[in-house]
Amino acid sequence: MHFTNSFTAALALAGSALASPTDKRATVGLSKAMRQRGRSFIGTALTLRGDAQELAIVENKADFNSITPENAQKWDATEPQRGVFTFDDSDRYVDFATEHGIQIHCHNLVWHSQLPNWVTAGNFDNETLIEIMHDHIKALAGRYKGRCTRWDVVNEALEEDGSYRKSVWYNTIGEAFLPLAFKFASQVDPKAQLYYNDYNLEYNGAKTDAAQRIVKLIQSQGVKINGVGFQAHLTSEPTTSSGGGVTPSQNTLATALRKMTSQDVDVVYTEIDVRMNTPATRKKLNMQSKAYQRIAASCLAVERCVGMTIWGISDKYSWIPGVFPGEGAANLWDEDFKKKPAYYGFLRGILRGGKNGPA
Ligand SMILES: *[C@@H]1O[C@H](CO)[C@@H](O)[C@H](O)[C@H]1NC(C)=O
Repeated sequence: MHFTNSFTAALALAGSALASPTDKRATVGLSKAMRQRGRSFIGTALTLRGDAQELAIVENKADFNSITPENAQKWDATEPQRGVFTFDDSDRYVDFATEHGIQIHCHNLVWHSQLPNWVTAGNFDNETLIEIMHDHIKALAGRYKGRCTRWDVVNEALEEDGSYRKSVWYNTIGEAFLPLAFKFASQVDPKAQLYYNDYNLEYNGAKTDAAQRIVKLIQSQGVKINGVGFQAHLTSEPTTSSGGGVTPSQNTLATALRKMTSQDVDVVYTEIDVRMNTPATRKKLNMQSKAYQRIAASCLAVERCVGMTIWGISDKYSWIPGVFPGEGAANLWDEDFKKKPAYYGFLRGILRGGKNGPA
């Protein structure tokens, strides 16, 4: 795909940050701009698959100073059988971060999905399942002690209506699984920043309030929680999978972030992508650029929003078309690894967000 016209439009949007209308033009870079604004990081999800073009973008520190392993640390990848741990793949990502001197957002310790059958169908009693969770956290977080910048300790514990998801964790242990997981993680790796991570927290609805209650629940037991991750799998226009929702206004996004920071924790965007009905058109790409800009600007408008991670580099490898047919084109780089208008919208949100009202 070619975006020559869109690039011109994006150039106008991004203003003086840009030098010339080619893809090689110099920009300040996403992470460089973020750090200049006094925040900590811009990251990307990463799957190491030997794609040199993708890797060159990930390795450009002006754009990225953090990675999140996309799949390698999930339970099915790290403990496929009880007590049998497989860390080779996960090690590659932690080593990558160390070798490049960048942050790593480790992902994740306790989740209902990509969970092997031996856990979900084991009919374990409460005590045994807590022991299984504890052993997993000891092994996985223990292996990388002092090397994970952040850990997603619990992922996606909530339903859309704010009730707890009926996972094996909740069904067996009850809500106590949340403070227990955070307690175990803080004992195993006291230096890691510990996060609760979920999607659809951006709309400021029942689920957002429920995430705030999870923060309070963990704190009420004297257990450490450092932050809440807003996944930000969003859309730039109504799609079938979004049920008509689109990326909220900057103010709605910032209000949702502040619901967490008011509880004395940090917030980050952990898995940003903004999908649309495909194929992309110039108009849709410009709408997407504005959505990315609102997201970035909402982060910069909230003092304790310390960073943002996008969910992958190129549309070529996005998970979206496989899960939501007819939707996609959600990332900052197109299938040919060219920067889309969204890159410049995101950058503009970083450069201008929080200054003199909405960016
Ligand atoms: C499971 O055990 C934990 C720890 O003792 C306790 O807090 C929790 O309430 C128990 N859950 C159930 C469903 O009994």
